Parts: sequence; structure tokens; C-alpha cells
Amino acid sequence: MDRIAITGGARLEGEIPISGAKNSAIKLMAASLLTDEPLRLTNMPRLADTRFLGKLLRRLGTEVEESDGSAGAETLLTTREIVSGFAPYDLVRQMRASFNVLGPLLARSGQAKVSLPGGCTIGARPVDLHLKALEALGAKIDLHEGYVYAQAPRGLKGGEVEFPFVSVGATEHTLLAAVLAEGETVMRNSACEPEITDLADCLNKMGAKVSGAGTPTITVQGVSRLSGTTHAVLPDRIETGTYALAAAMAGGEVRLTGTRSDFIQALIDKMIEAGVEVRTHDDGLTVKRNGGRLKAVEISTDPYPGFATDLQAQFMALMTLADGESVIRETIFENRFMHAPELGRLGADIAVHGGEARVRGVSALEGAQVMATDLRASVSLVIAGLAARGETIVNRVYHLDRGFERLEEKLGACGGQVRRLKGEGVEPEVE
Ligand code: UD1
Repeated sequence: MDRIAITGGARLEGEIPISGAKNSAIKLMAASLLTDEPLRLTNMPRLADTRFLGKLLRRLGTEVEESDGSAGAETLLTTREIVSGFAPYDLVRQMRASFNVLGPLLARSGQAKVSLPGGCTIGARPVDLHLKALEALGAKIDLHEGYVYAQAPRGLKGGEVEFPFVSVGATEHTLLAAVLAEGETVMRNSACEPEITDLADCLNKMGAKVSGAGTPTITVQGVSRLSGTTHAVLPDRIETGTYALAAAMAGGEVRLTGTRSDFIQALIDKMIEAGVEVRTHDDGLTVKRNGGRLKAVEISTDPYPGFATDLQAQFMALMTLADGESVIRETIFENRFMHAPELGRLGADIAVHGGEARVRGVSALEGAQVMATDLRASVSLVIAGLAARGETIVNRVYHLDRGFERLEEKLGACGGQVRRLKGEGVEPEVE
């Protein structure tokens, strides 16, 4: 297994191009199951997760062709027919978002057998809301031996879906099924994340009738068939926020391009409050920090447009060197502070009680061996390593490869001393 070695102390100066959003790309890829025509996705990130979903889609009957077009990396997905409605445990457990093939399979072919994803390192992460929503659309759902058996022999029917709390996954999944259901579906208390608007935009280009995406009430008028289209994946707001925080941590001046600053407004507000300079422009933002200690600030994660849970670990890394005590509240997942003890190995002073972490800023961090526990936690360790004295080695880098494209290259181009140690370190564990 690869590891990443970071030699701390180098300032970051330069430009980082932001990739297409992982969390959008994987749901857009699943949308290709809804039509027999080709769906061309541009601005595609090349990540372990997208490769992985490609593998599952191929088993279900999708032709997946990757190429490098004028607008960057592209993926062409064509599902002339669904050859199998079966998504096995081995594939779904490796990436939770694979579960979202259930809705499109059901909508297009009336049946599916998809493994339950199981728990994962950041909490229990159930899928009850997904299943209730599909039932509200007329699906018959049975659970046996860890599998969801879903049937809708006469097709799905539009219905009323009220989510008891905001769920990104369940909102996307319902949308992916409702577009081909007969009649109207109204989804209340839907998630408002930009990735949902992106999915709705793509589905509308394919001929769907979705309105209200990006607001809590989404209305879908079902259509009988969808066609192919070309769609550019929206920029990755988590990658944007991560590099913004990396620049703030290391010091220097970095321009993030090909992205949208409005997607991370909650983060920008907190960075400014902490004393980081942030300038926004048409295609992104510039983050600058010249010496001086940052101020400790409090954050609480929330559904969009609140502070993203996927940026919590990276912000905690920044706060380890701030002046004073920062309180970080995690409200989305119950077990998402696994990076705290690892940051502690670098000398951070963090006390976790339930969903709250208190970070008392220290004057310096010191490099050490650390272990990545999940995707965002692992990048927080890289960020901390950029400012730590000496060398930090991050083990279990396969987590990073799931969601960050060419991380060493992007940070290296700005002067970051980050290198990959090939094929060393501990073996992977199944997530
Ligand atoms: C969540 C994040 C998303 C992030 C992703 C990966 C939010 C609202 N969602 O999306 O920003 O990119 O993790 O880190 O910030 N839940 C249930 N039953 C369900 C579905 C969800 O109880 O059927 C619960 C979850 O356990 C969680 C909450 O609802 O506590 C939000 O989950 P959800 O938004 O669905 O998770 P993801 O789609 O994975």
C-alpha cells in the first residue's frame, strides 16, 4: 500500500486547478442506467471511486469509455439494455454510493437485487430513508440476508415523499427513481446541496421534468423515457475547501481555479473570522496568509449551505495551530472525529466528547507517522503535515485516492513537499 510523506514548512505559492466533483460524478454515472442512449460526462474526476462505480455499471450492462477530450477527462456511458439487476455485496460494501443504482434499475427494468451497504468508519449510515422513498413510489421492498429485493413490475408511480431529516443520498436516490415514475412526485425536506442541482440539471437535459432542485421541495413530473446528453460535472467544493485550508495552514498565496467560491461560503466566512485573507473571483478564489497566528473560531457542521461535514476534519487541522480554543461540533455523523487522535500524534491538543471536539491551539506541530481512517480525515493529516516540523508519513493512502485527484502533483506544483512512497506501509482494510 502506498503512503504519503510530507515535509512540513514550505509555503504554498501558485495555482491549483479544481477537478469535477466526486460526489456529483458518481450520481451522474448512475443516471446513465436510466436511458439506452449515450450519456457523455465531461470535467470528470479520475478517482478510485469513479473507476469503481464504472466496474459495477459494466456488470449491469453499461459500456463505459474513458477519454481525454478538449474539456478535460470525459466518460461516455451507454446502457443499451440492463443485462443484470444484481449489485453484489463485494462491490457495494467498497463504495456506499453504489447502493444508488437500486433506484435507476428499478425505474428502468422493474426489479433489482442490491446489497445493503453496511456500516462504515464514519458512523452507522443507514439507508432506511432511501427504501421508504422507493416504497412511496410503489416499489415492493423485501430484505433478506443483507440484500434489498425490490420490485415494481408495472413501473413506479409518482408519490409524496417527506424526508424526516435532510439526507443527500436519499434525495438523490429518490430523484433517480422518480424521473421515470408515472405521474407527479413531490419531495419535501430535500437536501439542497449543489450536487443535487447538478443531478437535476443533467436529468432535465436528458428529458426529465424536475423543478425546485436546490430548494427543500422538489417536484418531478415523470416521463416514459429519457435520452442521452452531454453534461459537465460541477466543480468539487470539497476539494476547493480542502486546498483553501491547505494554503491557510502552510501560509503563502494560492489561487484556486475552475471552481465556485459560493459553494463554500460557510467555510470562507469562518476562514476570514480566523484571520485568513480570502478574495473571490469569477472562476474561484485566492487564499493568502502571511505569518501571524490565526484566531480560534467555532464551527458546527450542517446540511448545505451550512458548514460541510466533509470539511470538518480539514478545518480541525487548521485550528490545531490557532490561538485559543476552538469548539467543533459534528451534527451529521456520530463517529467522525477519528482524525483527532491522529492529529494528536502530531502534537495537537484535542479533547472529544460525543459530537463535540475542543481544540486548544498549540504553537507548533511535529511530524510523525499517522494513519488515515477515512477520505476526509486522511487529507486533514496531509494538511497538518504541511505545517508540522519535519516529516509526516500518512499510511493507508488508498482512502485519499478515493476522492482526491493527483493530490501530490497539485500541492507539489505550489511548492508543497509531498511525495508518494509506492507500495509500502500497512495493508488495506475493507471500509
Ligand atoms: C453525507 C453528507 C454529505 C457528504 C457525505 C460524505 C450532509 C447532509 N450529508 O451525505 O454532505 O458529502 O455524507 O461524507 O451533510 N440517514 C439515515 N437514513 C438514511 C439516510 C441517511 O438515518 O436512509 C442519516 C445519516 O446517518 C446521517 C444523515 O442522515 O446522519 C445525513 O446522511 P446523508 O446526507 O444521507 O449522507 P450522505 O448522502 O452519505
